[in-house]
Amino acid sequence: MKNPFTPRFAIQPPLLVGRDEILADFEEALEDYGAPANASLITGPRGSGKTVLLHRFEELARQKKWQVLQVSTRPGILDELVSTHLPELLNQLEKPRKKLKQAGVTAFGTGGNLGWEAPPAPAPSFRSLLFRAADLAEQQGGGLLLTLDEVQREAIADLRVITQEVQHAFRENKRLVFAAAGLPRAVSDLLNDNVLTFLRRSERFVLGPVDPEDVRQALQVPAQQQGKPFSQEALDLAVEGTRGYPYLIQSVGRYSWDFARQKPEIGFKEAELGVAKARRKVGQLVHEPALAALSDIDRSFLAAMAVDRGPSKVADLIERLSISPQYANTYRQRLMEQEMVFSPRRGYLDFTLPYLREYLQEHAAREQFEA
Ligand SMILES: Nc1ncnc2c1ncn2[C@@H]1O[C@H](COP(=O)(O)OP(=O)(O)O)[C@@H](O)[C@H]1O
Ligand SMILES: [Mg+2]
Repeated sequence: MKNPFTPRFAIQPPLLVGRDEILADFEEALEDYGAPANASLITGPRGSGKTVLLHRFEELARQKKWQVLQVSTRPGILDELVSTHLPELLNQLEKPRKKLKQAGVTAFGTGGNLGWEAPPAPAPSFRSLLFRAADLAEQQGGGLLLTLDEVQREAIADLRVITQEVQHAFRENKRLVFAAAGLPRAVSDLLNDNVLTFLRRSERFVLGPVDPEDVRQALQVPAQQQGKPFSQEALDLAVEGTRGYPYLIQSVGRYSWDFARQKPEIGFKEAELGVAKARRKVGQLVHEPALAALSDIDRSFLAAMAVDRGPSKVADLIERLSISPQYANTYRQRLMEQEMVFSPRRGYLDFTLPYLREYLQEHAAREQFEA
C-alpha cells in the first residue's frame, strides 16, 4: 500500500481542500472578461499552498482549452519569456497555419534561394508576442493564462514590464488571465512600488489556515482510498495537529501513515508520533527559512513573544525588551506585514506560523543549554 501523502513543496496533494471559493472565482475569470479574478495575486506563508493552487489554476485552464504560460519569477524572466517561452508557445499555436502556408508555397513553386538575405527582423517585443499568443489562443477557442510563481523584489524590473503589458492587454480586451503568487513580504514590497499599481488592483487571495472539517477530508479520504483509514480518535488528533496548515496536513498524514505501516488502520499512537515528527520537520523546512529572512531585531522580538504560552501582551513585550511603545509599534507593523504575527485582540500579538512559538522555545532552550 502506497503512502498517499505528499509533504513536498510544489507537489500536488492527493486531495486539495479549502480552496473552493478561490477556484470558483478563478473559473469565473476564464468565462468572463470582466471578472475580478482576471488578475489575481495569491499570498501566504511558505507551505500554505500557493504553488499547488497556481497549478490547479493551470489545470482548470487547460481543461477549458486555454493555453498556459507558466513561469517562476526571477531576474531575467522577461528576456526568457521573449526569447524562449512565448516563441515556443507561438510556434505550437501556429503549427496548423504554417502547414497550410507551406502547402500553398509548394503549389505555386516559389521559395528557394533568392540570392539575397532578408534584413534582420526587429526583435519582437514582449507586447507583440503576448498579444499575438492571446489572439491565437482565443481563435482556438480559449485564451491565455499567464502565471508567475514566487514573485520577488529582485525581479522588479521584469515585473514592471510584464504587468504593464498585461494591463495593456486587458485594455485591448485580449483574452488573457493573469495570476501571480508570492510570500507576504515579497508581495508587500511589490505593492509599494509605484509602477506596479496594477497589482494593487488585482484580486488578492490570502491563503490562511484550512477549516478543521476540510482538514479531516484531506487526511481521511486519501488514507481510506489507499486502504488504511485513521481511527476516529487518531483523526481528531491528527486534524488538531495540523493546525489547518496545508504543509502540515501532508506531513502529519505522511508520518502517521508510516508509523502505522504494519497496521490495517492509523491509530491514536501512530497519529501522535506522526504529529510530533511533522512538527520537527516543519521547523527545518518552514521556520528556519522564515526566520533566516528576518533581521536580528525582528527575531529578538519574536523570541520575546515566545516566552509567553499564548498570545503576548504588547505591554509585556515593551517591558521585556526595554523598548519604547513607538518602537514596539514599528516592530509590530513590520512583522504583521510579513505575516509572521497577527493581533488576535487589541493589545495582543500571536504567531501566524503553526508551532513557531514551540520552535522558538525549544531553540532558545537549546541555546541556553549549550551556552
Ligand atoms: N489546499 C491544500 N490541501 C491539502 N494539501 C495542500 C493544500 N495546499 C497545499 N498543500 C500541500 O502543502 C504543501 C505545500 O504546498 P505549496 O504549494 O508548495 O506551498 P507554497 O507554494 O505556499 O510554499 C505541499 O505538500 C502541498 O501538497
Ligand atoms: Mg511555492
